[in-house]
Amino acid sequence: MADPTRVDELSEDEAAAELARLAETLLAANTAYHGQDAPTLSDADYDALKQRNLAIEARFPDLKRADSPSEQVGAAPADGFSKVHHAVRMLSLGNAFETEDVAEFDRSVRKYLGLGAEAALPYTAEPKIDGLSLSLRYENGRLVQAATRGDGAVGENVTANARTIDDIPTTLQGAPDILEVRGEVYMSHADFESLNARQEAAGKSPFANPRNAAAGSLRQLDAEITRARPLRFFAYAWGEVSAPLADTQQAAIQRLGDLGFTVNDLTALCDGPEEMIAHYAMIEQRRATLGYDIDGVVYKVNDLALQARLGFRSTTPRWAIAHKFPAELAWTRLERIEIQVGRTGALSPVARLQPVTVGGVVVSNATLHNEDYIAGRGAKSEEIRGGKDIREGDWVQVYRAGDVIPKVADVDLDKRPADSKPYDFPDTCPECGSPAPREPGDAVRRCSGGLICPAQVVEKLKHFVSRAAFDIEGLGAKQVEQFYRDCWIKEPADIFTLKKRYGSGMQQLKNREGWGDKSAANLFAAIEEKRRIPLNRVIFALGIRHVGESSANLLARHYGSWSVFHGAMTSASPDSDAWNDLLGIDGVGEVMAQSLVTAFELGPERDAIDRLAAHLSVQDAARPDTSSSPVAGKTVVFTGTLEKMTRAEAKARAEALGAKVAGSVSSKTDLLVAGPGAGSKARKAAELGIETLDEDGWLAMIDGL
Ligand code: IVH
Repeated sequence: MADPTRVDELSEDEAAAELARLAETLLAANTAYHGQDAPTLSDADYDALKQRNLAIEARFPDLKRADSPSEQVGAAPADGFSKVHHAVRMLSLGNAFETEDVAEFDRSVRKYLGLGAEAALPYTAEPKIDGLSLSLRYENGRLVQAATRGDGAVGENVTANARTIDDIPTTLQGAPDILEVRGEVYMSHADFESLNARQEAAGKSPFANPRNAAAGSLRQLDAEITRARPLRFFAYAWGEVSAPLADTQQAAIQRLGDLGFTVNDLTALCDGPEEMIAHYAMIEQRRATLGYDIDGVVYKVNDLALQARLGFRSTTPRWAIAHKFPAELAWTRLERIEIQVGRTGALSPVARLQPVTVGGVVVSNATLHNEDYIAGRGAKSEEIRGGKDIREGDWVQVYRAGDVIPKVADVDLDKRPADSKPYDFPDTCPECGSPAPREPGDAVRRCSGGLICPAQVVEKLKHFVSRAAFDIEGLGAKQVEQFYRDCWIKEPADIFTLKKRYGSGMQQLKNREGWGDKSAANLFAAIEEKRRIPLNRVIFALGIRHVGESSANLLARHYGSWSVFHGAMTSASPDSDAWNDLLGIDGVGEVMAQSLVTAFELGPERDAIDRLAAHLSVQDAARPDTSSSPVAGKTVVFTGTLEKMTRAEAKARAEALGAKVAGSVSSKTDLLVAGPGAGSKARKAAELGIETLDEDGWLAMIDGL
């Protein structure tokens, strides 16, 4: 969203419609986050929508809805737990995102209290823990009730679960008769990682982040499950109290610490915005090494009498604010650089990081691309990151964009250890010791070991069984690694003799750890099923460099059968007829052609291919029947929204009918298929006089083919 608070161009009707949409979206997001522990929006997106909602309501106060998201905290409690009415509502916090918002917060507090700019007004500043809040009620020193926040007024009774958490005392000495202690339940990074490892070993899906793991663990109907989960608790606030804890926030927290609660030791007293921001910067720097997730810093007016005067707005206190960290970026230490060897021998450097949460996901690896990238140079030898290189031990800023592998955005040279040295990129393969030269014009070094390199072999095997290749159920990357390690499978052909070798006799698959009668039989059946396999899948599965899924499709369609393909590849030495025919395929260039020919030259790689083929019955590719296809050989472009098929489907269908599908309109385009919303491409096609059909016209044209 550009600037969520820009609402000046909205008409009243638009504003009303948008408020309705926001109420619906935010309610759904709230339910997913609080009720089902499965967030649908990132925190940053959620905050932006909430801000927008507030901005629209501020401009059109009359349009504020009865179910306005700004009036809601969290979500109504889930069924299954009994309900608890909070004696004092559990509220949320207003947010500050910019430094300027902190000064504005201080000004608004002063204004409300009628304090001048010079009057002393200290605040506490402490980490905002990213977990879930819990209210613990003690009566006469005994824990009688624990409740989640729920919607702020009514939460869930999780008393039995809370009793299993070590940080939560069940009895207190010297506490007021009634004391409600509030704080955050969370899970440390280390505990989260080991919990997820256990989950995966048990075949359960891992938690997305420590917050979800904590919420999922606390909200278990069976408290024994909670007991087995490593939860922790920080106390930072209170609800009903029969006698005041202290005069100041700081002293009250100290008192909770003395009563036996864990309080956060990064809490500081600040005398104004400048010190608050300095403390925020300090906490942000330490974020990665805390060992648990925080998503900002909370500032609270220290004087409790002033807190009482300030009171609350509908859902947030006037005396506190959360200063959030910017989204999706985090600083952490790069512990080591490791080199991974891929299926084509490429040496890929990977940063092993001290785990840090970036946008709700714990990140412990980031890609470093290649040698030049580490040295601070881009693809055209230009400087990147201002020419800063990346070293082991460096303090680095990592980011995630979408679902991509995390990357390193920046390096803090001020924090570079004095004895650090530039990273020395290996020129031999770390897995097999073969030379790893860098060809001119290539950004990566490659292991020259081929099939003697165990890393290349195992990666090739993983590729072979991957979804777009053989896709054998029950035989994934993990199983392939184990079978390779134990020498059960050394090359693809071995997969098809697995049953003969381990289906009966001394050593049997069903006796291996993690396997049984049923799973072994299922795997053998799944393998049998894949002996019959389409040509395009086999070509892709071979893992030949530069031959991706769509090239494999092109090759399969061109050659039609395994024997024709094999014959062509083995006789296609440069300048032969077979070579020229191969290069004649639209989409095959010299680099790919050379790579194919090399794979089929006499030698160990070709032998392995032939051994594999002996086990298969390769299905011929459906070659487009050019005699009846009106689009064979034509170049088609799809644009706009297609309603009866996906873009991928449309493309595959057109290609199957012998058409070439292009992405843009040019004089070479024969046909444009334009759905609703078609823009510049449709205009260009009209200018060039290119035949244009709508989706139905296209379907009618290819009907029955
Ligand atoms: S004070 C009346 N302090 O953040 C406000 N809240 O976004 C009482 N949180 O509901 C909350 N760390 O779950 C406070 N140090 C901290 C916090 C903290 C995390 C959570 C809490 C609250 C939410 C608001």
